[in-house]
Amino acid sequence: MEIGSTNWVALFRFRFMKILFLNGPNLNLLGHREPEVYGRTTLTDIEANVRKRAAQLGAGIDFRQSNLEGELVAWIQQAKGEFDVIVLNAAAYTHTSIALRDAIAGVGLPTIEIHLSNVHAREEFRHKSLIAPVCLGQITGFGPNSYILALDASINIKAK
Ligand code: DQA
Repeated sequence: MEIGSTNWVALFRFRFMKILFLNGPNLNLLGHREPEVYGRTTLTDIEANVRKRAAQLGAGIDFRQSNLEGELVAWIQQAKGEFDVIVLNAAAYTHTSIALRDAIAGVGLPTIEIHLSNVHAREEFRHKSLIAPVCLGQITGFGPNSYILALDASINIKAK
């Protein structure tokens, strides 16, 4: 539906899109955990910033954390039909989990991989991401701002 130069379908999707933020193991410890690597910002602070930005953009978000691989798999499966984009900080499961990779590929929702730290500048075992090949892209190394960059990227995916 196009009236004049306005793409109303894109506008509708833009305003009402829903983004699922998933956080993997140990991210509940942010703020206290290895602050020299991850900083002092807690996951609650990050969620508050994401909610603020999402409200400005008119997007709906859900923000969850689990230390359990199976729970993350279940949430990815359940996202189909309810969310438009998944933003995933899979934490250590990034480097180990074929189950998460298969869930992302199986569900087929656009998924953005994110990390607070620059995983490529750290230990070699963090250079390999099992989920990267089934994600749209990777945002890594911007601290809590990685979440905001992923939110902005999500909006642009659907606005296209
Ligand atoms: C992390 C990087 C992972 O390698 C690590 O296991 C984490 C956090 C990050 O956000 O920088 O737990 O995903």
